[in-house]
Amino acid sequence: MPPAKDFSITPRSTRKIQTPYRCIQTEIPHPDSLATLQRLRDHESRSMTGQPPIVWRKTYGFQIEDGYGNRWVDWSSGVLVGNAGHNHPRIVKALQDYIASGAPLMTYCFPSEARARLVEKLVHIAPKELDRVFLLTTGSEAVEVAIKLARTHGIRLNPRKRYIISYEGAFHGRTYASQLAGAPMDWLDPNPYFVKMPFPSSIDTRDRSFDFFRTRLRELSIPADEVAGVLAETFQGREAKLMPVEYAQALREWCTQHEAALIFDEVQAGFGRTGKLFAFEHYGLVPDLVACGKGITSSLPLSAVIGRAEYMNQFGPGEMTSTHTGSPLPAVAALASIEAILEDRLIERAAELGPYLQAELQKIAAPYHDRVEVGGVGLVAAMLFFNNRKELVPDADTAFRFCEACMLAGNLFFAPVGKAYGAIKFCPPLCITKEAVEDALYGPAGIRETLEKVIQ
Ligand SMILES: Cc1ncc(COP(=O)(O)O)c(C=O)c1O
Repeated sequence: MPPAKDFSITPRSTRKIQTPYRCIQTEIPHPDSLATLQRLRDHESRSMTGQPPIVWRKTYGFQIEDGYGNRWVDWSSGVLVGNAGHNHPRIVKALQDYIASGAPLMTYCFPSEARARLVEKLVHIAPKELDRVFLLTTGSEAVEVAIKLARTHGIRLNPRKRYIISYEGAFHGRTYASQLAGAPMDWLDPNPYFVKMPFPSSIDTRDRSFDFFRTRLRELSIPADEVAGVLAETFQGREAKLMPVEYAQALREWCTQHEAALIFDEVQAGFGRTGKLFAFEHYGLVPDLVACGKGITSSLPLSAVIGRAEYMNQFGPGEMTSTHTGSPLPAVAALASIEAILEDRLIERAAELGPYLQAELQKIAAPYHDRVEVGGVGLVAAMLFFNNRKELVPDADTAFRFCEACMLAGNLFFAPVGKAYGAIKFCPPLCITKEAVEDALYGPAGIRETLEKVIQ
């Protein structure tokens, strides 16, 4: 895959915009933010230059300000982190109260009240079969642990039961095993026990039936009983599409029949994003292990594996731990975020507003149907750009130009993702309003206008 593009940090004059939700009044980025941008460019690894060069100085709800009078509608939620909204008052207060109380800022694996409250809450909101939790820090770690638990369980049943099946085009994070389960990388040793299937609803998958899964295993000479686990993003991030329900249900049955762990990676999908608390609810099934992260706190770093006790309790005291497991501040933030998402009825909002957003994006993209495709579920949508729609050749240049042009017009997206960086993701904090979506799409220099401008 060609490398992603760097965003220029040279300030640019642009059209002035003033709406109730977007305000662009200066060159972008503001010249006074250059010192910060340059310090980062001078000292961080180059991999960190991949996002639009706006220094976030103030964030609230679904909006971001740079401190120089410019304000954006946030379509990124960080990277699908801020489900409850930026700086949700409930999360801020819980953190302030916790710090003010003199309670510990770290506890390692010593017992803590914050951890106790969070794991109890997670078990309470998860299906009853998923009755154990292990807390970590990043989504990649949660996936890594889920793979470890599936393999340990498999190997105990049968020493040859080691295969982990995942899906082409998946992203599960950047630790070793999570990358083995994702896109191939030059630096990763090929591992014959990590095997990929086509994701059944991907734009380039022809056979979407579960039979194809079985056939592919046979073709690869992998006995079903040697599969330790099947790992899938609940919706595949790069196209924001769920699996067909029948496929997911057949997969559940197959995993049960062959004693393979069904693992859903809900790092991106969980905590209301898709219009359900957990996205696997769309499939009417319960997995064995669930990896969570991002929106679990809407803020500080925390991740979790939630699962069935027969998987989760395989390791003895001290054998599966992490220094920052359930670190108290992130745990306090997670609890407050879950309560905020439930109390503010943000899951319902994602379920209601998501179809509106997707329908409007489809309308906006319709004139360019030979170049652009829109997919989505709840309040996450993906706009895929193609040079050649028939052969599905991704158009990274247009996706990048769209992202930059939106930044200059008060709509902030994270950089293009997906196959060859041809996709723009729409994933605002779930507290976004219909009026703000309308303004961002159809207001002055809105998304419709920007798309028209960049697509030639
Ligand atoms: C589906 C999915 N799984 C795992 C990860 C990795 O999470 P983290 O970046 O917190 O390690 C991500 C991050 O984008 C993700 O989208």
